[in-house]
Amino acid sequence: MKNELSIYIHWPFCKTKCPYCDFNSHENDSIDHDIWQEAYLREIDLYGEMIANKKVKTIFFGGGTPSLMRPHTVDAILTKIASKTDVSDEVEITLEANPNSIERESFYSFKQAGINRVSIGVQSFKDENLKFLGRSHSYQDAVKAIDIACSVFSNYSFDLIYALPNQTVNEWEKELSFALQYIAHHISCYQLTIEKGTQFFTEHRRKAFCLPNEEISASMYELTHNILKTRAIHQYEVSNYAKDGFECKHNMVYWKLGDYIGIGPGAHGRYETNDVVYSCINCYSPSKWRESLKNGKLPIQSKKMVTNEEQRVEKLVMGLRLNEGININTIQNKPVAEKLVNEGFLTCNKDMLATTLKGRLVLNAILSDILGPIA
Ligand SMILES: C[S@@+](CC[C@H](N)C(=O)[O-])C[C@H]1O[C@@H](n2cnc3c(N)ncnc32)[C@H](O)[C@@H]1O
Ligand code: SF4
Repeated sequence: MKNELSIYIHWPFCKTKCPYCDFNSHENDSIDHDIWQEAYLREIDLYGEMIANKKVKTIFFGGGTPSLMRPHTVDAILTKIASKTDVSDEVEITLEANPNSIERESFYSFKQAGINRVSIGVQSFKDENLKFLGRSHSYQDAVKAIDIACSVFSNYSFDLIYALPNQTVNEWEKELSFALQYIAHHISCYQLTIEKGTQFFTEHRRKAFCLPNEEISASMYELTHNILKTRAIHQYEVSNYAKDGFECKHNMVYWKLGDYIGIGPGAHGRYETNDVVYSCINCYSPSKWRESLKNGKLPIQSKKMVTNEEQRVEKLVMGLRLNEGININTIQNKPVAEKLVNEGFLTCNKDMLATTLKGRLVLNAILSDILGPIA
């Protein structure tokens, strides 16, 4: 719907930087929470008119580690949003949380502030894996965090990372089977990716560790799909699984190219005004972001129009991540689509093309087949 809006709020700080993570997150022990709260409120104020007549459907506090924010700051941000625009009665408001003790003890205060969904970064139920991933929590901390989330929120999710060095299919199967008892509504399972600029990137390059080969990670991926399916937790996106009705509404807005604004350092936004679609990115540096707001300016580092052709490609790239797929008319190269259907990488049902499990394993190759040189 044209006047619907989502809001992403980025908190750029973490207690420690994980060796695999390339998100805009920084270690910082001396945050002046009053100053930071003021900056977020100012950024929302500066959006003023643009968000005035919208219906806010989802709000997502991501990071970094937003569970390190003061619940008071979250409360102030949500109150400010509500004073500027219309927030839907059914709004989904998610907060990403780490399972450390201080953060999980704040769950109730976050709920009081308006959060109605948490997404917990469990990453693994094995201490050995957590150590490799540089996490500062144990698997028991994660279990406690889930228990508290379960008693406080009527909707929660957690993240796991698999395809770790030396992990076998059997080990992942055991871990995921153990995880089943804790999945109430939603889970994200990510294959470990080695991102440029991270500590793991350097270590992987000098062969300090090796990732499982493609065949093993493909088996793990299929196994994830199959195990979760037995509990009616269906895959609705490449790495996301939910019981019916518990798909993350905020992420669906990204994948379905809805309108959202990004608040906070490095946050992205994409929205339509006067029939033109814009995509914009905030300054990544927390200090530059704050400086800009101090000067009364929106801290946008780049803003560009998204052309019709770019929108078509985005639709395709995002749509093929989702179970429901895309309308065949989005695709110009129909013979290639037909070939991919015949080879079992895509299905075609009532003009809707969607990737099969086999197709999702090679999604990038499929996109480059369909899009040619653009991808
Ligand atoms: C912004 S991070 C998480 C928020 C929170 N700070 C945490 O770490 O729990 C979102 C999720 O992305 C996943 N993730 C981040 N980097 C990854 C990587 N290189 N490979 C696979 N998953 C990754 C993790 O599962 C993480 O929980
Ligand atoms: S994975 Fe989470 S806790 Fe670790 S550095 Fe990234 S955002 Fe911070």
